[in-house]
Amino acid sequence: MSAELRDLALEAARAAAVLVGERRAVGVEVAATKSSDVDVVTEADRASERLIREFVLGRRPDDAFLGEEGDDVAGTTGVRWVVDPIDGTVNFLYGIPAYAVSVAAEVDGRVEAGVVLNVATGAEYAAARGLGATRDGNPIQTRPAAPMSRRLLATGFGYAEEARRLQADGLTRLLPRVRDIRRFGSCALDLCAVAEGTVDGYLEEGVHLWDYAAGALVAQEAGAAYRLGTGRWGGQSVVCGPAEGFAELLELVDEIGYFGE
Ligand code: IPD
Repeated sequence: MSAELRDLALEAARAAAVLVGERRAVGVEVAATKSSDVDVVTEADRASERLIREFVLGRRPDDAFLGEEGDDVAGTTGVRWVVDPIDGTVNFLYGIPAYAVSVAAEVDGRVEAGVVLNVATGAEYAAARGLGATRDGNPIQTRPAAPMSRRLLATGFGYAEEARRLQADGLTRLLPRVRDIRRFGSCALDLCAVAEGTVDGYLEEGVHLWDYAAGALVAQEAGAAYRLGTGRWGGQSVVCGPAEGFAELLELVDEIGYFGE
């Protein structure tokens, strides 16, 4: 069943990516702000979510649906679709080529299938539980473990002022201990970067289920481990890295109090 859900997620993500790409081509404007002035939503986010909801529920009308933009639907099958219609909305707004459609399918509360499609580059990351992870149909794998001082880590920042102060504070302790830090601007793509070995790890506080549901499965199926928790200001935190060497990453995060005690 997980393979069927993955294939449907891929079809839906492809259809949404066409819409998002067309909207980008004609120009993007902010439609509204959410948690703060810099937490933006565009008409394309809303249209993409609507399209994905109609697409998957058109095929599986009794499933549940949870979307970032709030188009939630209750279901009866035990399957729930968890969707970020554009992860990396700020990149989308500016035309920075790192924004993605993220579609995951949970069965009885556990993610069984996930697709992250980078609209700007066309890269398609897909996974079904137990069946591995792919980019454009080819299997992907995490990097081999490296000493901490040579690990390149991705992270992200929240939208609230206080959250950013705490994140900047955590960075002052993290940055001297690792090779370097990257901030690409899409949690879903950061997790796929771990999956395909273009970074050694990813950590962030303030992510939501729709940001990480699909990407975390892609990473896990590619050989990564991840830990969810509650961070310094009560936001959802995630740490992800190759399974080999993951314990050291967790130790460092705890030792420097990146997410608090
Ligand atoms: C955001 C991106 C960003 C991360 C934020 C997310 P959005 O999602 O994933 O990289 O730092 O935590 O909220 O708002 O673009 O869907």
